[in-house]
Amino acid sequence: MQLSRGKAKTLFTVKNQPQQLIMHFRDDTSAFNGNKIESIPGKGRLNNLFNHHIMQHLRSHHIATHHIQLINDTDSLVHSLTMLPIECVIRNRSTGSLCKRLGIPENQILDPPLFEFFLKNDSLGDPLITKSHILTFNWATRTQAELMKSLSMQVNRLLLPLFQQAGYILVDFKLEFGYQPSHPNNLFLADEFTLDGCRLWDSNTLEKMDKDRFRHNLGNVLQSYQTVATQLGIPHIHPS
Ligand code: ADP
Ligand code: TMP
Repeated sequence: MQLSRGKAKTLFTVKNQPQQLIMHFRDDTSAFNGNKIESIPGKGRLNNLFNHHIMQHLRSHHIATHHIQLINDTDSLVHSLTMLPIECVIRNRSTGSLCKRLGIPENQILDPPLFEFFLKNDSLGDPLITKSHILTFNWATRTQAELMKSLSMQVNRLLLPLFQQAGYILVDFKLEFGYQPSHPNNLFLADEFTLDGCRLWDSNTLEKMDKDRFRHNLGNVLQSYQTVATQLGIPHIHPS
């Protein structure tokens, strides 16, 4: 049974397994809070296989993730979680909304990496928020807020070298977290890690390999996603 349909993925319940969900990656691609939407045939499959690869890597380095296993090319089995209504962004280089908001020049190395919370609310345009907002409005507990930050930093430390070895700079990325109601202080990395939710630049040419290609009509979106997947050594990533 369909549980929810977001902008890029659909969640389904699993018969006799109330603690699990099927996450279906669609070809739909959206930007600017859903104001630009297109279907990119094959993207759902690529994102599902890419996400599986990254989640497996993180799990092998002791990050608790919601990902259980691949079901098929476009679907994965995940733990059903109570999601925190917050998007955690890590930035290693300046670009995007950071440059617009603070007038920072593009492509500055951010050391230490910058960590930001955003409220997950499309109709408000996902505004930047602070830990103080989170506590006052009860969007998460203090422990959860601190865990979101430390887990995001850990993910960054694990993924920076993974992408660097493949020839890419992990510029920035967004993570979402959730928990099982019986253990609110055990956060799982949830949702997805794909090129839809991060910025990745070629280390030599600084060419954009991520969803910015779609946002700014640079073309070759699927080809770029495929190139990155191949460079990472993700198996069976060639078009089916
Ligand atoms: P959006 O909600 O931004 O339009 P998607 O189309 O990617 O995004 O939909 C996926 C939805 O599933 C998101 O709202 C996300 O918070 C939610 N989600 C991700 N992982 C889980 C999980 N393990 N359990 C429950 N919900 C999840
Ligand atoms: P930003 O520069 O637009 O704030 O985005 C920072 C990074 O987070 C970028 O990799 C895109 C990602 N992101 C999403 O995928 N979804 C979101 O809703 C937000 C706010 C950011």
